[in-house]
Amino acid sequence: MNNCVVGLQWGDEGKGKVVDILAEKSDVVVRYGGGANAGHTVVVDGEKFALHLLPSGSVRKDTVCVISNGVVVDPEVLLTEIDSLAKRGITLDGRLFISENAHVVLDYHKTEDRLREEALGKNKIGTTIRGIGPCYADKIGRSYAVRMADFLNIEGLKEKLEKILEYKNKLFTALYKAEPTSKGEIFEKCKSYSQRLSKYICNTTEYLFEQIDSGKEILFEGAQGALLDIDHGTFPFVTSSNASSLGVGPGCGVPSKMIDRFIGVVKAYTTRVGAGPFPSELDNDIGQYIRDKGHEYGTTTGRPRRCGWFDAMAVKYTSKIGNIDEIAMMHLDTLAGLDEVKICTGYTINGKEVKMFPSNIDTLAKVECKFETLKGFNQEITDAKSFEDLPAEAREYVQAVERITSLPVTFVGVGPGRNQTIFRK
Ligand code: GDP
Ligand code: IMO
Ligand code: MG
Repeated sequence: MNNCVVGLQWGDEGKGKVVDILAEKSDVVVRYGGGANAGHTVVVDGEKFALHLLPSGSVRKDTVCVISNGVVVDPEVLLTEIDSLAKRGITLDGRLFISENAHVVLDYHKTEDRLREEALGKNKIGTTIRGIGPCYADKIGRSYAVRMADFLNIEGLKEKLEKILEYKNKLFTALYKAEPTSKGEIFEKCKSYSQRLSKYICNTTEYLFEQIDSGKEILFEGAQGALLDIDHGTFPFVTSSNASSLGVGPGCGVPSKMIDRFIGVVKAYTTRVGAGPFPSELDNDIGQYIRDKGHEYGTTTGRPRRCGWFDAMAVKYTSKIGNIDEIAMMHLDTLAGLDEVKICTGYTINGKEVKMFPSNIDTLAKVECKFETLKGFNQEITDAKSFEDLPAEAREYVQAVERITSLPVTFVGVGPGRNQTIFRK
């Protein structure tokens, strides 16, 4: 069975945890999009792993990991991650495959990301400054792109970098009045990336089809969330890739028809980091309660996450475009202690019903949420092992989400640990 795990909100839904659980029964885990803007947390026996580029299956020593063509790879972050796992006794040797076609994030992408955001001032997107937008822009623009395959031809890369840095430095100095990037320094770094990463670089499309044809089970790990999708999210407050499950085909070459099950991950509420509209946001004590109890601070940037009620209107939309079969709902435990909990069931504009979540932010800015209010639960649920262990109000909350979204909730998260998940199938 081939599974795909994707976020249905604005990222950080708990994908890392769900992928880690499913990786136990998968042979290969593939990261197919995004870059080091992602921060996927896995907690094993109280030990925490925060992964940015390696698939979350990497913490399991026998799982093969693929970083496919759709990912933008920052070699510095990747090597730090490989080294930090090695220090914890987990080696990637012989089980990491990186696409030759994956694009490379270099220092000048991060500089460009920062300069652009600074220039935008109060209109900034609130990016992670990981160079994601500039790298994907170079990919689409083609003329100034660096791919993993370039590390296999270091002399060719030297020539390419000359041309790229001439262009980038004109941009930095003339437009932004900033310092130029040193050509020599970038090239020396690339030489060392090439020495360390060449052994992992290959044709991952060929590799994946070999695995699929020999009956291996593949798990596709989405990054970010569908509302951050460049085409279908809340543009321009999105990331630069197809972060919904629509990105899986272009991101790794495997058509979505070959994926048996799409699992959409949500939190029992909604969070968002960075700017942009958020109709069910709780900019009040309840939002702060959720932030504190759920430790809602970014895995990648440490920024406080904005918190709000579960937005079923948004999830109905993202599950439709994502062909979602079932929902994994994380962080139910975080809602414990609230007298009442709300679910946004729909939107109106000037009293008129909105049919589908509008990704156009000008329309989204005008919506008013309709809420269904449910009783809260006081009892802590972090030790619950089965659905029946949950208080009636918590079960009713999950069932309300199933009713409103018309999707089964098959996993319920009651804590960050690998074992703090209730399976309902
Ligand atoms: P991802 O980007 O979707 O992988 O999610 P992140 O790792 O960025 O953020 C999710 C956070 O919630 C992490 O700190 C997880 O350890 C934590 N987490 C995941 N599931 C649960 C859950 O069910 N309950 C609680 N309390 N924490 C959870
Ligand atoms: P995971 O995989 C939450 C957000 C940023 C910003 C916008 C654009 O951990 O769920 P970018 O650096 O991509 O150009 O930033 O997207 N963003 C995320 N928010 N989780 C993520 O990844 C995110 N990756 C990007 O905060 O608003
Ligand atoms: Mg995250």
